[in-house]
Amino acid sequence: MSTPSLVTQDLTIRFGGHVAVNQVSCAFHPGELTVIVGPNGAGKTTYFNLISGQLTATSGSVTKDGTDITRMSPSARARHGIGRAFQLTNLFPQLTVLENIRLAVQARAGDGWRMLRPVSSFRGLTAKAEHYLEATRLTPLAHQKAANLPHGDQRKLEVALLMAMEPDIYMFDEPTAGMSLDHAPDVLDLIHQIKADPTKTVLLVEHKMDVVRALADRIIVLHNGELLADGPPAEVMGSQIVRDVYLGTSEGAA
Ligand SMILES: Nc1ncnc2c1ncn2[C@@H]1O[C@H](COP(=O)(O)OP(=O)(O)OP(=O)(O)O)[C@@H](O)[C@H]1O
Ligand SMILES: [Mg+2]
Repeated sequence: MSTPSLVTQDLTIRFGGHVAVNQVSCAFHPGELTVIVGPNGAGKTTYFNLISGQLTATSGSVTKDGTDITRMSPSARARHGIGRAFQLTNLFPQLTVLENIRLAVQARAGDGWRMLRPVSSFRGLTAKAEHYLEATRLTPLAHQKAANLPHGDQRKLEVALLMAMEPDIYMFDEPTAGMSLDHAPDVLDLIHQIKADPTKTVLLVEHKMDVVRALADRIIVLHNGELLADGPPAEVMGSQIVRDVYLGTSEGAA
């Protein structure tokens, strides 16, 4: 197998007496989409926060392509290629769709807010922005203000911004939560498209089993902060221990 792009080693966080993520060791590879499942409160979002930097581990480590990023800020981790979708917090509501994407492309190019640039390189950025506009099928909405888009299109725009940042690791925490049925497939199509790129590693927290079945190359199960199972979808979903957790019978059976 390829070298892992992302590794968590004995990753742990305590909140007072509560261990929300408990010694989770897992390696993720380019070209692989891993779905993280587990009951409510299992530690899935906390695990994501430890990887993207919203929380810092009590012990253990997070390594990206061999670099220890355990104690880096979220923005430093983003510069190391960790890309996490946050529901709508990254959009500039008063800018158009194209302007939003162009800013993300510009940020990726390391230009920040610098406006004095040669026209030629600006054209390059615009072409790139148009590429992501096209890829996410937002072209017809290019000149609409982000604030005026329907919710589902705003969520698509958010994925477009993430793609424009060109991360190596894509993290989605319940990407279709709160979305209408007619918009969810669009966002899932985009995740499909990202997954098709063999250089990208995708981590997805998802409860909906049809989505899990459609996208997962691998499933890991968290339960009470611990890694309970890890393997190919059919194997993990068929295992007795996972059924016990999902049917809530593990305590009863013990
Ligand atoms: N900042 C925090 N301070 C204290 N406890 C926290 C904090 N963040 C998470 N927790 C606790 O850690 C545990 C795991 O929460 P987490 O949100 O990671 O679960 P989850 O698997 O994402 O659940 P869900 O499926 O409901 O989204 C919960 O018991 C939660 O209350
Ligand atoms: Mg969660």
